[in-house]
Amino acid sequence: MLPASANPEPYRIKMVEPIYLIPREDRELALLEAGLNVFNLHAEKVFIDLLTDSGTGAMSEGQWSAMFQGDESYAGSPSYHRLREAVRDVMGFPFVLPTHQGRAAENVLHSAMIKPGDVIPGNSHFDTTKAHIEYRKAHAIDCTIDECFEPEIEHPFKGNVDLEKLDRSVEEHGVDKIPFVLITVTNNSGGGQPVSLENINAVADYCESKGLRLMIDCARFAENAWFIKHREEAHRHRPIEDIIHDIFRRATGCTMSAKKDAIVNIGGFIALRDEEIYEQCCTYNILFEGYLTYGGMSGRDMEALAVGLQEGTNESYLAARIGQVRRFGDALTDAGIPIVRPPGGHAIYLDAKKFLPHIDQEQFPAQALVCELYLEAGVRAVEIGTVLADRDPDNGNNRPPKLELMRLTIPRRVYTDNHFAYVRDALVNLYERRDKIRGLKFTYEPPILRHFRARFDWIR
Ligand code: F0G
Repeated sequence: MLPASANPEPYRIKMVEPIYLIPREDRELALLEAGLNVFNLHAEKVFIDLLTDSGTGAMSEGQWSAMFQGDESYAGSPSYHRLREAVRDVMGFPFVLPTHQGRAAENVLHSAMIKPGDVIPGNSHFDTTKAHIEYRKAHAIDCTIDECFEPEIEHPFKGNVDLEKLDRSVEEHGVDKIPFVLITVTNNSGGGQPVSLENINAVADYCESKGLRLMIDCARFAENAWFIKHREEAHRHRPIEDIIHDIFRRATGCTMSAKKDAIVNIGGFIALRDEEIYEQCCTYNILFEGYLTYGGMSGRDMEALAVGLQEGTNESYLAARIGQVRRFGDALTDAGIPIVRPPGGHAIYLDAKKFLPHIDQEQFPAQALVCELYLEAGVRAVEIGTVLADRDPDNGNNRPPKLELMRLTIPRRVYTDNHFAYVRDALVNLYERRDKIRGLKFTYEPPILRHFRARFDWIR
């Protein structure tokens, strides 16, 4: 009998990529040159890169070999048809528009569906989603359950939508102003936390009762399905494929950043059940992305995506993937480091308010922590806090979010548990000298999506 804890990776390593830890003085210089913003670092100056799980996964031999079948016809490529079949098979949507990544899918869908003054209720909209909504002078309304904002609560589905909050926003704004309700699985900005199938169905019931459409931002749908299987008693014995179908069954459509759960380095799509909306999206897809059967991707990229969609939903793969994230998170908790509990699907989120209680949120504690971790160990994390939240478009003020987090994002099939033991030890060192860590101020601040390009200095 296998031990109960055994979820070994269902693959072995055939090709490796060397990484180097540059000396501390060189890291100091690199960070200063980067304006204390790790997005500005040259990646070869990073030892372990936990900036994102987006496009950073390791493709399989199956994906690499499928790429050789890529058909680069401008129109009607068989690679597109293989991708469309994979989306139909895995998610059940008949209409598929490829895009070059997730935000491009948002751009196309929102161009077709959102008007100025509209509101989009949902659970912790991702930052590009929110930016696309606000760019169209519409508003994203966060209806995530309150438990999501309490890092220590061990709720199994912290990504859930609060039906009362949803109803309040619908009553306040009226159904005519709501082109769709959006569920994000898993909810990246709130800790990579899943949404239960019970909640998805309750939101779908509600939408049906009001005549509203339901859309899904499904970047990490497979990880969400794994959590449903393991945390929702009613689904424990069901195949993961069936649970995935149920996630999408009642939705009008979805936008997908394939760089996450489809384990490709680039790609995305819109998938729809509604032909009328599909027709409207076609025009914008051609305008912004490319012709309907490639949409910003090459044929070979669509081949890798079609294979990755199947691989990313494989149950033993998901068990190993989520097991690795959980072991890392539990090791940090055991070391006394404050993280969002329970560990999410794709990342561990450190609670920067708890880690650095002496730094005011307006002095960007999570960004300060990101800088210290790079200096300490050459590890690149990312801020999910006040910098990312941007300013309120209505009054220009900072809008410090309830959760001020540093995200350690785990690329798929890339690092081993030993890498994470190293990161844990670095964080323990930082925690021991946390009183010495200082807050930051802007020296340059771009108008929107400022976290990518802002520059900072330490407050002296
Ligand atoms: N939706 C969610 C939930 C996401 O996490 C992302 C990207 C997008 C949409 C946009 O997709 O990057 O392909 O354009 N998240 C990345 C991250 C960037 O690091 O979490 P994209």
